[in-house]
Amino acid sequence: MTRILFTPPDARARAYVRGLMKEAGLEVYEDGVGNVRGRWPGTDPLRGGVGSGSHADALPSSGKYDGTVGVLGAIAALKALRAVGYKPVRTLEAILFTSEEPTRFGLSCIGSRAMAGWLPPKELEDLTDANGTSFLEAARGAGYGFGPGGKVPATGAEVIKTARIPLGVLTHFLELHIEQAPLLERLNTPLGVVSAIAAPAALRVTFTGPGGHAGTVPMAARRDPGLAAAAFALAVEAAVAEAGAGAAAAVATVGVIDLSPGASNAIPTAAVLTVDVRDTDGPRRDAAVRGVKAAARRLARARGVGVKVETLSSDPPMPADAEVAAALARAVALVSPDPATRGHPDRVPRLVSGAYHDALPTARSFRAGMLFVRCAGGRSHVPDEYARPDDVALGVTALALALADLGAGPPLVGRAAPAIARSRGATHRTCPVTGRVDDGGGRMCPFGNKKKKGHEGVAEVR
Ligand code: HGY
Ligand code: MN
Ligand code: MN
Repeated sequence: MTRILFTPPDARARAYVRGLMKEAGLEVYEDGVGNVRGRWPGTDPLRGGVGSGSHADALPSSGKYDGTVGVLGAIAALKALRAVGYKPVRTLEAILFTSEEPTRFGLSCIGSRAMAGWLPPKELEDLTDANGTSFLEAARGAGYGFGPGGKVPATGAEVIKTARIPLGVLTHFLELHIEQAPLLERLNTPLGVVSAIAAPAALRVTFTGPGGHAGTVPMAARRDPGLAAAAFALAVEAAVAEAGAGAAAAVATVGVIDLSPGASNAIPTAAVLTVDVRDTDGPRRDAAVRGVKAAARRLARARGVGVKVETLSSDPPMPADAEVAAALARAVALVSPDPATRGHPDRVPRLVSGAYHDALPTARSFRAGMLFVRCAGGRSHVPDEYARPDDVALGVTALALALADLGAGPPLVGRAAPAIARSRGATHRTCPVTGRVDDGGGRMCPFGNKKKKGHEGVAEVR
């Protein structure tokens, strides 16, 4: 079964992550929307904390790496830093965000929006799934969303209060994620730093009509919302082509078309479609959305059917924070096996993300950045999504180094950075965190992984 929000597989994933956080020595806290946070208090609580994480929920019949790499990677990175005796000045947190995928409730990034202060309580209270179950009811079914004492259901405002991070408590956020596109594979390099995240907008369009018997209503007398939906899907493609004027970043997808009553011999009475419109250019994306909405109204008139257009979300594009992107690039340059980038942060690939992530709403309140890991064929949101373990492990090491950098703790043992930069091409390999030079024999990794082959000094991401 797929980890759809607040279903048994999702609950098992949460329990597993809580266990890993505790095993890593982190203080575990869960808020009312189901975000799971593992804290490592810094020596100076007045300095804003640094968070890192992603999501564990998934689409129906999708892959294992989207989101999970960032959740498990954050925990592994903190565990590795603790293992080498690093002491953060800023509090460091590993975070599992609830409901990044819009699958069940139509809204993306519910947990990160709530944490970053971009989810009004009324909007949370109004969220319902296709069966009419509200988000708060589903959350309570999963054990979240109760007031103090855990008995009385909390209101949307009370739930948001448990999630919203007060200003200054967290100041930076880093997300490790598979690239979900083929550029790193084409560049033949395992890691890249995200420069921007495209702006996503999500619509729900409902066409309605009188329905009728498939065998007795003449075609000329029909007002068929199913046919309006078919014409509309093609109009969406035309609208984004027109607004985007050929820009690769301008995309739109009709991912869901639900016909009611869904009988082969009944003219539909309703057609519900979702439209996902994205672009790195905010105004261009908005122009595409206007074109899509105009097409819905035009087709409804032409076919004599009713139409309702709902905007489920519309986010601004996210430029990565320069400080966080620079810390990530320095870290990649320390660990990358790619001679072109090793020791050269300025040559680390910068990528635009067409996919959105929890870093998108987070970036509106904290200094946020992302680190991408190469994934096979750039494929994602499909069952054969895959990322190589050594690429993921390299991503975890780079994340650990960037967290150590931003965590403002004392320099790592052995001052890894110069040692690594110097060791390029040397016969001995140096652990990218401790700077310990391997003796070439037992490749002891400070994270406790004995490796015979190429030693990457990383914690295994399970
Ligand atoms: O749809 C997205 O971009 C994300 O993978 N949820
Ligand atoms: Mn996804
Ligand atoms: Mn994701």
